[in-house]
Amino acid sequence: MSIRLRLAIVFAIASAILLAVGGWLFVSVLSSSLMNSIDSQLAVQAGHGSSYLTSNPTISATTSGTNAPEYVVQVIDGANRVRASSAEAGNQPILLPAVLGQARAHEVLITQKHDGEDQRVLAQPFPGRSSWLVLAGVSLESFDTTISRVTRELAFGCTLFVLVAALGAFVLARSALRPVERLRREVATLSERTIPEAVGVPRTHDEIADLATTMNKLLMRLRSSLERERSLIADASHELRTPFAVLRGELELAQRPGRSREELLRAVTAAAEEAARLNRIADDLLLLSRGDQGQLPVHPEVTNVHQLLTKIAHHAEGRLQAAGISLRVDAPSSLSAMLDPDRIRQAIDNLVDNALRFSPIGCDITLAARAHDKDLELEVADHGPGFPADFLPHVFERFRRPDSSRSRNEGGAGLGLAIVMTIAVAHGGTATAVNRPEGGAIVRLVLPNAIAQA
Ligand SMILES: Nc1ncnc2c1ncn2[C@@H]1O[C@H](COP(=O)(O)OP(=O)(O)O)[C@@H](O)[C@H]1O
Ligand SMILES: [Mg+2]
Repeated sequence: MSIRLRLAIVFAIASAILLAVGGWLFVSVLSSSLMNSIDSQLAVQAGHGSSYLTSNPTISATTSGTNAPEYVVQVIDGANRVRASSAEAGNQPILLPAVLGQARAHEVLITQKHDGEDQRVLAQPFPGRSSWLVLAGVSLESFDTTISRVTRELAFGCTLFVLVAALGAFVLARSALRPVERLRREVATLSERTIPEAVGVPRTHDEIADLATTMNKLLMRLRSSLERERSLIADASHELRTPFAVLRGELELAQRPGRSREELLRAVTAAAEEAARLNRIADDLLLLSRGDQGQLPVHPEVTNVHQLLTKIAHHAEGRLQAAGISLRVDAPSSLSAMLDPDRIRQAIDNLVDNALRFSPIGCDITLAARAHDKDLELEVADHGPGFPADFLPHVFERFRRPDSSRSRNEGGAGLGLAIVMTIAVAHGGTATAVNRPEGGAIVRLVLPNAIAQA
């Protein structure tokens, strides 16, 4: 069932219930106040009862006026005989003997059927004569007509109101929901290949306009992530093409007849190198994609940071010596932090690799760690050329390398710093890259709340 219809029905039912209760209250208040005034008129008529005992009644029970109701008054003796009465009252008591008996004990005020119509009767002891009663009665015909007319008119008015209200709700809901339907149609035509710029935002400044705005933001995010994904796939395939081509070349070369043992060995070694490179790229991509899904496993444990950095430095010893570069660890020996030593080592290794690649011979690289309040800062600094200024904002993007680096055809696929960032983020932290004024690059990892309580 459409929202419009549901809204109209709910609205109609709610207003019908409300109006019914209101109408019922109105009618019952009206009828009880009418009945009160009838009852007080009856008391007045009964008060004049004694005047009917004289042969010429001085007061007529019929109040003057054309449409005024006719009151009947009877004076009844102890043997239930009518001793005096108003003009039309007849000589039979208008109450049953049982009720007359009750009235002798205390005043009785009842509504009864009389000749097919309702009648209101008051019976009181007649003053001055024991066991005598005075009865005053009046037909409720005009009361009943009034009440039923009011009820009818109210019912008609309320029904009309409910219908108009339901129709109004339907029309209002339809016009309010029209932009939603338009939005739905627009979104239904979206394909995952071509995410459009935006859907139209209605100029209503209401919740639906908000929805459209939110949807546009979502589309924007989807589009940029789609673009990122596409360029990532393009970059990845581009990056994989070279090692595959080299691998294939080497294998084809090895396949040719008449290869010497040395040539074969060289080809296999080269092929193994390319396979390792492919393997690394695949591992890196897997790590990045896990990081994207927030599923990169990190197992933080209390780790002595100085020892960790020393171990990393030690591991790089061979390559450092070959390049004529020294590495300095600068960290308090007691500094401990909650971190995943394997992951952090992977990140620092990447940074040391880069620093090694860019450091001029004879310069040193610094591996520093310090506590900043409860945050741990890890830093790799070198004395190389630093990042090209226009590349700085992009250093952590995947497959991103400055043009100079691409042409040098060395280093990795441009995933190293992206991995550093992913590892920092998996620790709840972040990574930053800056150039020092005197030359050289600094890449810093900040791991918040990592400092371990002793
Ligand atoms: N310490 C550094 N000094 C200068 N440039 C650097 C340094 N580290 C990284 N870069 C630049 O950033 C690029 C991206 O680095 P990275 O993500 O590690 O990828 P890769 O090492 O595979 O090239 C490098 O190609 C290099 O041009
Ligand atoms: Mg690198």
